[in-house]
Amino acid sequence: MKIVWGIDKVIAENLAPFQMPGHKGRIEQAIYQYDMTEIPGTDNLFNPKDIILDTMRLIADTFGASHSFISVNGATGAVLGALSTAFNKGDEVIMMRNSHISVYDGVFLLGIKPVYIYPDENMLERLKELVTDSTKGVVLTTPSFYGEVIEDDVFEFLVEKGVTIIVDESHGSHLKLIDEELSSMRYADIVVHSFHKTLPSMTQTAIMHLCTNKFTPSFAQKNIKLFMSTSPNYVLMRSLDIAIDIYISQGHELMQNLLAMCADFKDKLEAETDFYIVYKNGKQDKTRLLIRHKNSVDYGAIDRQLRFMGVQSEFSSQLGLLMMPSIMTIQEDFDRLLDALKRVVIQEIEPVYYKIFRPEQGLPIREAFLQPDYPLSYQDAVGHIVTEYIIPYPPGSPVIVPGEIMSRELADYLDTFEGNIVGLEHEGYVNVIDEDKVELAEII
Ligand SMILES: Cc1ncc(COP(=O)(O)O)c(C=O)c1O
Repeated sequence: MKIVWGIDKVIAENLAPFQMPGHKGRIEQAIYQYDMTEIPGTDNLFNPKDIILDTMRLIADTFGASHSFISVNGATGAVLGALSTAFNKGDEVIMMRNSHISVYDGVFLLGIKPVYIYPDENMLERLKELVTDSTKGVVLTTPSFYGEVIEDDVFEFLVEKGVTIIVDESHGSHLKLIDEELSSMRYADIVVHSFHKTLPSMTQTAIMHLCTNKFTPSFAQKNIKLFMSTSPNYVLMRSLDIAIDIYISQGHELMQNLLAMCADFKDKLEAETDFYIVYKNGKQDKTRLLIRHKNSVDYGAIDRQLRFMGVQSEFSSQLGLLMMPSIMTIQEDFDRLLDALKRVVIQEIEPVYYKIFRPEQGLPIREAFLQPDYPLSYQDAVGHIVTEYIIPYPPGSPVIVPGEIMSRELADYLDTFEGNIVGLEHEGYVNVIDEDKVELAEII
């Protein structure tokens, strides 16, 4: 019996509730009755034997994984669980510099030694240089936020080398509905899916799939548990179960429909406006729509107008407007988007360029993160070791991470950068290690 049926069965028992949670299912909103705890009839996420086990098995069978574990702490928890399953303190792990912050958090928590591949590098060529006998594993993100999928030759090389492959496929839980070959599950040891991003489940639901038998399920279970609440939310787990039902029963049909709507939208957009859709040559998720204008325009202003006209994008940056339709998107949504894009007032601006920086490392991430610090302006911070991430949009990947040294070139760039900078406590300032306090602490 799966989670949905199990929960409905317990509700039908109309219990006198002397167990958690405190709302007792009596708040007059339907969702509360599904919020349960571990009682007979439900199950235990960390030692699943009943309804959760059945749903996890169904998910594993559906995705062709050997085992699938539910995360109620999003892909963030699943990425941390995957890294903790695969790596140990001091392990040398190759990762993409534009990885999600959860990968960096794993590096910090586990004391991993990261080796970066930068976004402007040819991934395969760089991996051929970087993979050595001391490489413990590789963490890749595919597809990107923009739907770009890593090509097979990269994975074939890694499989041949025998290194552990962890894939953050957060943006690709739906990929197998388009084409089995878009997913990295046939190559990776562990794949993380942020279900809620593209499939019809609630925010914070995700899956960690074991795809090979490199790690035992019990070890993986023990590790993912480290990053979850001990009171996993049944409303979330039930929504995951509902999503998997939709995936199995209607997923392919809904996906064909979505692909047709995306293609039709692209044709109309490009025929009737000066906007166009950017798809990478090669492997690309065609349901991920990065909309650009033929001139250099202010996408933030366009995005605000879209919202005024009742259309919400995923985000905008100077790279364009990002739309994330899913199998639940309907034709009317595309019609409204097209109509709004025809009506927006375009403001042309000077193009914003972004650069890729390779700052020198002064300290490992973990050590830098834990040091006493204080804020300095970018220019004054030159030569200092920073203790935080600076993430300009575009492109949305960190230009400097804790432990790296601020350079004049980077400070000048940040001073003149016109997009958004995420991750800073104060605009124009960055936290750097407070050498005086470190010295004082050492003397004491
Ligand atoms: C590439 C990538 N990985 C992981 C995550 C974390 O996902 P979640 O929100 O499910 O914790 C995100 C979230 O945006 C992401 O973009």
